Amino acid sequence: MNSPKLSERLLAAADLAREGSFVADVGTDHAYLPIYLFLQGKIRGAVASDINEGPVQRAKINIRSYGLDKKISVIRTDGLHRIDIFFPDDIFICGMGGELIARIISDAEWTRERRTRLILQPMTHADKLRDYLNREGYTIVGERLVKEDKIYQIICAEYTGRSENYSDIELIFGKQNLCAGGNLLREYAEFVRSVFITRRDGKRAAGADISYEENMLRELDKIITNT
Ligand SMILES: C[S@@+](CC[C@H](N)C(=O)[O-])C[C@H]1O[C@@H](n2cnc3c(N)ncnc32)[C@H](O)[C@@H]1O
Repeated sequence: MNSPKLSERLLAAADLAREGSFVADVGTDHAYLPIYLFLQGKIRGAVASDINEGPVQRAKINIRSYGLDKKISVIRTDGLHRIDIFFPDDIFICGMGGELIARIISDAEWTRERRTRLILQPMTHADKLRDYLNREGYTIVGERLVKEDKIYQIICAEYTGRSENYSDIELIFGKQNLCAGGNLLREYAEFVRSVFITRRDGKRAAGADISYEENMLRELDKIITNT
């Protein structure tokens, strides 16, 4: 049977799963990600979870249609609550806001103990998610930018207990993405620049201090020029 067709965004996330791992897909919705990974022979099994009943039912129907009921369990739960009993190696949390992803991880202390890999795809606030991960000792071990209708970030982290220094620019873009450079980085930097220009102009009109925005715009110009 053909695998479900994943979006470029989910394909880029799927690529970060480890061979032979047991996966948790939190906020699974349709469960295409674990179904795809299992049919590719990359993982040995999965638990797909969602907080809402509609997605849980959708996931069950799709998993059954691929005959994978014994390989992929489905549970309805908030975030990582009760997922620890499955002992997942790799945890995907994709398609949610960065602050919600951080809250879900902070409610699951057990992700620190077991060399669990977190594969995260924030729809918003990637900077706040990186800041949370870094402060709490989750080291970012891999990062990707991927373009569909817009540019998305994938962040892969594992608990080491260590924290590093991050500048605001590094929190927004990711150290690895900045090192890698490339067209997507430049395009993303142009988008972020437009956001900062709007913010600066709004603050200037209100007579507020714009030195932070001016400084960030200088940094963004450097990325755009040098990439
Ligand atoms: C936009 S969909 C993303 C689906 C899929 N992960 C993807 O990236 O294409 C977000 C899903 O997360 C679920 N969700 C939202 N908050 C959640 C939470 N606290 N715990 C588990 N699932 C949640 C929603 O019900 C929804 O199915």
